[in-house]
Amino acid sequence: MRFRSQIARQRSLAHETLIALVSSLCCAAMLVSLARYEILAKAPHRAYSRATDSMEPMETTLQTGEAYAIKTDELTRKFGEMTAVDALNLRISSGKIFGLLGPNGAGKSTTIKMLTTLLEPTSGTASVAGFDIVEAPAQVRRHIGYVPQLLSADGGLTGFENLMLSAKLYGMNRSERKGRIAEALEFMGLTESGKRLVKTYSGGMIRRLELAQAMLHRPTVMFLDEPTIGLDPVARHAVWDRLKDLQRESQMTVLITTHDMDEADELCDELAILHQGKVAAVGEPDALKAKLGPDATLDDVFAHFSGGSIQEGGSYRDVRQARRTASRLG
Ligand SMILES: Nc1ncnc2c1ncn2[C@@H]1O[C@H](COP(=O)(O)OP(=O)(O)O)[C@@H](O)[C@H]1O
Ligand SMILES: [Mg+2]
Repeated sequence: MRFRSQIARQRSLAHETLIALVSSLCCAAMLVSLARYEILAKAPHRAYSRATDSMEPMETTLQTGEAYAIKTDELTRKFGEMTAVDALNLRISSGKIFGLLGPNGAGKSTTIKMLTTLLEPTSGTASVAGFDIVEAPAQVRRHIGYVPQLLSADGGLTGFENLMLSAKLYGMNRSERKGRIAEALEFMGLTESGKRLVKTYSGGMIRRLELAQAMLHRPTVMFLDEPTIGLDPVARHAVWDRLKDLQRESQMTVLITTHDMDEADELCDELAILHQGKVAAVGEPDALKAKLGPDATLDDVFAHFSGGSIQEGGSYRDVRQARRTASRLG
């Protein structure tokens, strides 16, 4: 009897141990699944935010269905009492080459500086590649290329070194850099001269190098501030050809400022004529000409809407700046 009851006690002990084991396994399983649930519950959110992060460069005006690559809303910039850009409302469709024309001092560079986030607007705002220049300047910068009015390439470096500097500046992967640089040099017809110091380049070659620098990270929107000022006709045409090819192949939107009417006629799908910081006229080159008459040229359009000749307007500072750029481009 004693023996039997001993066995029964041992059995019930084993039973209890088994139950304890099973229940602790259940608990562990529950904890694991709870933890998994936690992870899964968070995962969609993380995956979502990661997806939107990585998709942000793609979420341009093209992808989001937003029709305009550049849209300005009452964009204004004052310098003291003087209003350089006055309540600008522009709508620039994706994939277009848009020309901002106007005499010296009309506000072209100031507009570009605001759109590239280098200068804050006094009031109003704009969106570039779908991002607000005031709310999301870092995003804007990631999606644009910019060739400033004044020369930006470093004469003491080779073409290749200038491009490598840009590649690092744009945060391009080490593995991508050399391939993209070779591609950009070839595209701009500079493969041979890539090893030479930039101070030995002609003005046209420097401008093409600067275009190569600005296109390296494949921007959605490109800003070019008087890209051919001071260039001879051959060099000018070489820059135009490269620019047209680039725009055709990449479907980039290009905003170009110029007071060269041939350039505007040759390159631009649409134009705005700026006069004293305000838009005096906007439209396709042929439509603007047609407004003035059957034989009107773009020079006539410009003179009509900018209230005088191409040389008028602007301060000593503007003229000095333009001349300095022109002489450096030689
Ligand atoms: N940093 C500045 N400080 C003061 N005035 C400026 C500054 N930048 C531009 N301006 C003035 O704003 C006006 C527009 O200049 P800008 O945008 O450079 O004209 P554009 O590029 O059409 O020649 C000009 O009268 C110019 O003198
Ligand atoms: Mg300017």
